[in-house]
Amino acid sequence: MTNLEFRHTEAARLSPEEREALLVDPGFGNHFTDHMVSIVWTKDQGWHDAEVIPYGPIPMDPASSVLHYGQEIFEGLKAYRRPDGSIVTFRPEANAQRLNDSARRLALPEIPEELFVRAIHELVSIDADWVPTREDQSLYLRPFMIADESFLGVRSAERARFLVIASPAGPYFSGGVKPVSIWLSQDLARAGHGGTGAAKCGGNYAASLLPQQEAAENGCQQVLFTDTQTEDTIDELGGMNLFLVRTDGTLITPALNGNILSGITRRSLIELAKDRGLRVEERAVTVSEWREGVADGTISEAFACGTAAVITPIGSLKSSDFTIDFGDAAPGELTMSLREELTGIQFGLREDTHGWLDVI
Ligand code: PLP
Ligand code: COI
Repeated sequence: MTNLEFRHTEAARLSPEEREALLVDPGFGNHFTDHMVSIVWTKDQGWHDAEVIPYGPIPMDPASSVLHYGQEIFEGLKAYRRPDGSIVTFRPEANAQRLNDSARRLALPEIPEELFVRAIHELVSIDADWVPTREDQSLYLRPFMIADESFLGVRSAERARFLVIASPAGPYFSGGVKPVSIWLSQDLARAGHGGTGAAKCGGNYAASLLPQQEAAENGCQQVLFTDTQTEDTIDELGGMNLFLVRTDGTLITPALNGNILSGITRRSLIELAKDRGLRVEERAVTVSEWREGVADGTISEAFACGTAAVITPIGSLKSSDFTIDFGDAAPGELTMSLREELTGIQFGLREDTHGWLDVI
């Protein structure tokens, strides 16, 4: 337990009318709330200077390590407005734990779980008016940590900063819940054995941008990465985990093999599916298996999942050599029913029997 007190500096807030104009159709990641959280870490003092300050540029020395060696990690979670007006976040302690897993891999300092959760509470409370009331909208929270020691030697920094910013969010993919097309990246990889694939660090996303661009050029909304050795074993998408659904209701998802992010949505869906008595296989999954399963009718649905994506049905997987198509423009039935159950819990429309919600 840390007993850091947060200092508050009030921002010049947007007027309710200006805020409301942005909330009509916020898109994803385009607008930011009035405040942000900042906490400083130094090797000598540990975590200190916890502040809630106006959202805005942060001073940065051009020699800051993050700018040169990419020592950066981040998280993503959402705050939801319930029908009674109260606000909750979903499994924030899981994000805190995963941030610390990433911190260890990137040689950054760990932050006490309780301080992480308190930082989220501070920001959501002060900017509570920004938590949308419209259906399918939420407040996306982006905690992140950067190394900001000014030093060009290649070693882990002795000074870091943890920040939390918040952005009202509608659906990540425009066009609502309709099946997306996925591009199979064949030559460009995101992660390799022993690398940083399981960490949520900026570098992984930088590596995904060129293949993501290739995906867009081929009319696809996301990119799928396979294992670099087999080029057939599925890892995950650029910013989401992947599930296949068999006709008998079995869910199949790549096991946490050290190269993929341990998604909190993934983990929650596995629990919800098991609660329903469904079989869930966490194992190596291949593109060949997907292709054959669709051809012989044993695989009937595929979906992407993550905080930003929620659960997004996948309509097709394309590559330069082939297309796997479910041949039906409608989202899968199990995909949509799991989506309804998960979002029902998050928005307070269904009972939270797992104790996943944290009331602000
Ligand atoms: N995989 C990657 C690469 C991601 O960026 C994300 C999103 O955070 C996920 C998976 C899903 O993780 P979560 O469900 O915790 O948002
Ligand atoms: C998230 O879902 O939180 C992510 O970080 C993924 C990204 C596509 C926004």
